[in-house]
Amino acid sequence: MTLDFLGTLQRTHTCGEPRSPQAGQAMTLMGWVNRRRDHGNLIFLDLRDRTGITQIVLDKEISPEAHAKAEVARPEYVVAATGVLRRRDEGLANPNMPTGEVELVAHTLLLLNDARTPPFSPAEEAIANEEVRLKYRYLDLRRAEMQQNFAIRSRVAIAIRNYLVSQGFLEIETPFMTRSTPEGARDYLVPSRVHPGHFYALPQSPQIFKQILMVSGFDRYFQIARCFRDEDLRADRQPEFTQIDLEISFPQMATIFAVVEGFLRAAFSAAGVELGAEPFLRMTYDQAIQRYGIDKPDMRLPAMVDLSAELTAELRTTLKIDPALPVLGFTIPSVGELSGTARKALLGEIRSGFGDCGLDMLDVSRLRTNPSLTPLAEAIEARLSAEMHRFNGSAHGTEDLAVVITPKPGTPTMWNYDPQWIYKRVGGLRLELARKFADRHKLFQQTRSAADFKFLWVTDFPMYEWNEETKSWDAAHHPFTSPHEEDIQSGALVNDKGAVRALAYDVVLNGTELGSGSIRIHRKDVQQEIFRSLGMSDEEAKERFGFFLDALEYGTPPHGGIALGLDRIVMILAGAASLREVIAFPKTAKAIDLMVDAPTTVSDQQLRELSLRVTARS
Ligand code: AMO
Repeated sequence: MTLDFLGTLQRTHTCGEPRSPQAGQAMTLMGWVNRRRDHGNLIFLDLRDRTGITQIVLDKEISPEAHAKAEVARPEYVVAATGVLRRRDEGLANPNMPTGEVELVAHTLLLLNDARTPPFSPAEEAIANEEVRLKYRYLDLRRAEMQQNFAIRSRVAIAIRNYLVSQGFLEIETPFMTRSTPEGARDYLVPSRVHPGHFYALPQSPQIFKQILMVSGFDRYFQIARCFRDEDLRADRQPEFTQIDLEISFPQMATIFAVVEGFLRAAFSAAGVELGAEPFLRMTYDQAIQRYGIDKPDMRLPAMVDLSAELTAELRTTLKIDPALPVLGFTIPSVGELSGTARKALLGEIRSGFGDCGLDMLDVSRLRTNPSLTPLAEAIEARLSAEMHRFNGSAHGTEDLAVVITPKPGTPTMWNYDPQWIYKRVGGLRLELARKFADRHKLFQQTRSAADFKFLWVTDFPMYEWNEETKSWDAAHHPFTSPHEEDIQSGALVNDKGAVRALAYDVVLNGTELGSGSIRIHRKDVQQEIFRSLGMSDEEAKERFGFFLDALEYGTPPHGGIALGLDRIVMILAGAASLREVIAFPKTAKAIDLMVDAPTTVSDQQLRELSLRVTARS
C-alpha cells in the first residue's frame, strides 16, 4: 500500500466540531479511523480525534479514488478526509453522537499512515487488562475516557494556577537534585559522577526549599511540583506524583484554609462542579477519631455513636463487656432487610475479622428477644436514630444496618500504647461494611452535584507518633511542624510527648486525604528542641539540616503552608479508581514503567564512571 503525503493540506475543523448549521461547507478533517463499515459502494469511516468523532462517507460514484483508499483503511489508520458536510437523511441521524446529525461526504481521502492491528481497540469501552494498557499506553490514552481525564487534569491545574496568581502567589521552581527531605518515605538517589560516593536525593517534597523561600522574603510561594517517594504503592500512591505546594509568610491557619478552599472551588468549577461558598467543615483530630475512628473521615456516612452511657455496669456484667472501655455503634444506611441467615453470616464474618483482638459484636435484634434487655435495644436504637437524623434528617429504620461493637473483658494489649485503638478498629469496620454494601446504599455514587463532595479540615494532629518497631517517637507530620504554643510552654515536649498537639491540618474529601500542611517552626531554638525530642543529636541535626538551622538565624518570618495531591484531586473529579487513570505515564504497583521498561540495568562503563558496583540483580 502506498501512503500519501500531507503536502500543503490544512486541517479546517476537528472531528468533534461539525454540526448541521455547517451543512454545505467544505471541510478537511484529520484523525484516526475509529470504525469502518463497508457496504460495497458505500464505505463509512468514523473519524476520531480528541474532540470527538465524525462520520465520513466514501461513495464510489462520487469519488472512486477516495473509495478505493477507504477499502484499504483499517482501524487506527491516520487519514485526512476532504469533502462537503451534509445533513444525514431522515431517520439516519445518531442521537448518541454530538455530530450525529451530519456526515462528511469525502471527495479526497489521504492515507497518512497505517497501523498494525492494535492489541486492544481504543474504540471499545471495555478495558483490556491493565498490563497491556500500560505497555501500549499511547493506544490506551486514545480512549475517550482517558482523553477526558487529561482534559480535566489540564483545566484543573490551569484554574489552580490562575487562582493562586490572582491571590498574589509567585510560582517558583525548586531543585530535583537535592538532599534528603524528611517526609517519611525512602529517597530515590542519584549518584554523582564528579563526587564519587556522593548522591543527590530526588525531593520527597519541596518542604525545606519553600520554607527557605519564606526566609528569602517571597511571602506567597506556590509550585505545581513533582515529588518522588520510594514507598509501597497503592491505588492512591505513585512513586512520582504532583503536589500543589504552597507557603505563606505571617499566616493564621484561617489564611491558609481560605486560599485552599478558594483554589479547590476554582478547580472544581473548571471540572464542571460548582461548590457552594460556605467554608469547609472543621474538626479536631481527636473528634475525628472519636466520631469516625480515622483521621480522614468519610462524611458521606453517619458517624459512630458512643453507647457507653447506655451500658451500665450491671448490663456489662450480664453481656460480658469490659467495664471500662467504650462501646461503639454505627449505622450503615439502606442496606435492606437481612434474612436471619444473612445476618448470622455477617455476624460470623465480623467476629472472625476481629480475630482475638478483644472485640465482639452485639446482636441488637437478639436483645429484643429478652424482655429485660429490650429497653437497652430501644435505647441503642434511639441513639443511632438521633445520629441518622443529624446525618440526613431521617430516623434509623429497618432498612438500615445497626452495628454495635463491645470490648470483651480484659483490656487488649493494643490499648496500652494507643488509647484510641478501639475507635480506629471500629471505624475501620464501619468503612469495610460501607464498601461491602455500597451497591445498596449508593452513598458512594458520584454525580456532578456539589452535595456529593464532602470536604473537611482536620486540625490539631498529634505532634508525635509512637513507633513500635524502633520504640521511639517519630514526627507525625514532619519535623518542621510547630507544636501548639501552650504545649511548648507546659513542658509537654519533654514530659508527655503523646499529648503534644501540632499546628498541623489535613484537608479531606470523601474519606481521601487531599492535602496536609502546618504552621512551621520559625525559631532556631524551638527547631533544635524538636530535633532533640525526635532523638536527633545536635551533631546529627547540624550534619543533616545545618544549612536550614543557619537560615533560621537570619530573620525568619512566622510561616506556614500546605501541599495537596493534584493527582488525587483529578482522580476524584474524573471518578477514577486509581491514580494510574490520571497520570499519563504511571508506574505499576511494582514501580515499573511498562511502556519504556524502566528501571533498567546500565552498562559497566556507566557504573565505572559513577564509581558504583552492583552487588545483586533481580
Ligand atoms: P504530605 O507528605 O502529607 O505533605 O503530602 C501532601 C499530599 O501529597 C499527596 N501525596 C501523594 N500522592 C500520590 N502518591 C504519593 N505517593 C503521595 N504522597 C503524598 C497527598 C498528600 O496529602 N511537605 C508536606 C506538605 C506541607 O507540610 O506543606 C508534604 O509533602 O495528597
